Amino acid sequence: MTDTLENLATESRSFPPSPEFVAQSNVTAAIYDEAAADRLGFWAEQAQRLDWAQPWTEVLDWSDAPFAKWFVGGRLSVAYNCVDRHVDNGLGSRAAIIFEPESGEAETITYADLQKRVSQAANALTELGVEAGDRVAIYMPMIPQAVVAMLACARIGAPHSVVFGGFSAEALRSRIEDAEAKVVITTDGQFRRGSSMPLKPAVDEAVEHCPTVQKVLVVRRTGDDVAWNDERDVWWHDVVATAPDTHEAQDFDAEHPLFILYTSGTTGKPKGILHTSGGYLTQASYTHNTVFDLKPETDVYWCTADIGWVTGHSYIVYGPLSNGATQVIYEGTPDTPHKGRWWEIVQKHKVSILYTAPTAIRTFMKWGADIPAQYDLSSLRLLGSVGEPINPEAWMWYRDVIGGGRCPIVDTWWQTETGAMMISPLPGVTECKPGSAMRALPGIGAVIVDDHGEPVGPGGGGYLVLSEPWPSMLRGIWGDPQRYKDTYWSRWPQYYFAGDGAKYDEDGAIWLLGRVDDVMNVSGHRISTTEVESALVSHPAVAEAAVVGATDETTGQGIVAFVILRGGIEDGPELVQELRKHVGHEIGPIAKPRQILVVPELPKTRSGKIMRRLLRDVAENRSLGDVTTLADPTIMNLIQQGLGAGN
Ligand code: WT7
Repeated sequence: MTDTLENLATESRSFPPSPEFVAQSNVTAAIYDEAAADRLGFWAEQAQRLDWAQPWTEVLDWSDAPFAKWFVGGRLSVAYNCVDRHVDNGLGSRAAIIFEPESGEAETITYADLQKRVSQAANALTELGVEAGDRVAIYMPMIPQAVVAMLACARIGAPHSVVFGGFSAEALRSRIEDAEAKVVITTDGQFRRGSSMPLKPAVDEAVEHCPTVQKVLVVRRTGDDVAWNDERDVWWHDVVATAPDTHEAQDFDAEHPLFILYTSGTTGKPKGILHTSGGYLTQASYTHNTVFDLKPETDVYWCTADIGWVTGHSYIVYGPLSNGATQVIYEGTPDTPHKGRWWEIVQKHKVSILYTAPTAIRTFMKWGADIPAQYDLSSLRLLGSVGEPINPEAWMWYRDVIGGGRCPIVDTWWQTETGAMMISPLPGVTECKPGSAMRALPGIGAVIVDDHGEPVGPGGGGYLVLSEPWPSMLRGIWGDPQRYKDTYWSRWPQYYFAGDGAKYDEDGAIWLLGRVDDVMNVSGHRISTTEVESALVSHPAVAEAAVVGATDETTGQGIVAFVILRGGIEDGPELVQELRKHVGHEIGPIAKPRQILVVPELPKTRSGKIMRRLLRDVAENRSLGDVTTLADPTIMNLIQQGLGAGN
């Protein structure tokens, strides 16, 4: 990165929407005024995008703040809205999913096919004893059955908890345990870079200690041998593929739990973020339509996220399907079998809307513009970015090399907790600046405040907060209402505190500056420093550990760990490898530190708090900031001498 976060806000380039784009845009600037004039009326209008089995009596009940109820008294079926209603509307033969496997033939699944497959899975889950309110854990690769599994859960009112397939058995176990899941849905294995990798063994290991799990439902994907527990394990092809393919969608209360999704907080214990039905689907549907300017009849949409993250929930499953979109789902990695794989997919399926993460764009930049240049990318008309701040250099590359200079780029800021997009340009209305998420979407209140919670003006910086409840907001942390209040609503009680730093430029556009808490963002994935520290100290060789996120050219941040070894343990490359592996085992490969530095001491304040700021200075090879608040200011010399850094 030749540009740093500090100078982002001096960016002066700006790209207004082209007249051609404006002419066909789904919305005009009036949408901002409409929403501002009557916010709740605006959301009520957006909720009309959905089919309700019973209308609501009140748009928002905020009397028990910060616990919101949206569309009070309303009833709907999320699954019906995402699948059946399109069939009822005569769109059964429209492609819902174009599945591109890592290798082999693509498969097209129409909305009519999807209806049958979801019905079968719903019938099978019911047969297995899953009832409304029961939790189902889903631990699967990017295959259509993962989407079918989520929708089947939604259909019978069983909240799903999708756990990213890259997480370890240990991480899966703690999530299953916290949600007290009754059933786990998984696969025998997954294809990764041309070979098959097992997945079910991690489930076997995880559920060994989870008495709540009664059944494990297994999709055969790779065909590799797996261990089998006759009492507990059932094959998808035995119970789902043979189940009746009709199922009457039940409706549920607007506030019925739809899913739990775990995300890292500032402690070692991940938070189970709870989302419910009516408000969540309203905002997922509205933002997917408006921010992507979706034309469901003609667009081919592709979101490259994994269903294990919230982006996969809102912008692969619920947003696009509720809008009747046609989308590509890709199983594999961008470099298998070659580094042009994504662009080959865009060309082959004539993808028109592409939604991806800055880390991917920076990786493609490194691989070189000559690779995408070999493919016809002229079908693209809109590009999206999510997950971390996008540096202007990557933004311009995305625009020029991938978008041919003609596609608007929507940089969308949101979180697992917000459920759907909150800050983003509207491509047919708002100008775009390279690196800015621009402004709050219509209906959303976002403000930047200082330490005292006072809003700052143009040119000012501080903390990003959300000033109004929104339909897809989290309804809490599973099983821990107090943590919900403490984490998000205690710093300034009238505001939701997102944990991000931000600033306005002179025009009032919003620039996100990254997390201000002990949460790292590695390739758009949220990982807490404490979680990695706990993993490290659970290894017998480690006495103490401190972890920081250091700027990384490709992944945004890279994990750098400082460890103190127990007495008598020898430092060495094998030990460092062993510790990396151990973190992979405790959390998952994405949490493996980029660098582990063995040090004699850690910098602490007099009250014993580790000063991560100084460790970041070391990790980024910078001269040290203020060391006077350290209990022992000579410690930093000791650390640097030990590392031979010498600066
Ligand atoms: C954190 C949320 C939103 C889905 C993927 C990540 C960072 C997200 C942006 C953006 C700058 C962004 C924030 C946020 N973030 N989008 N467009 N610009 N930063 O979801 O794991 O819940 O992480 O990702 O720091 O708080 P998540």
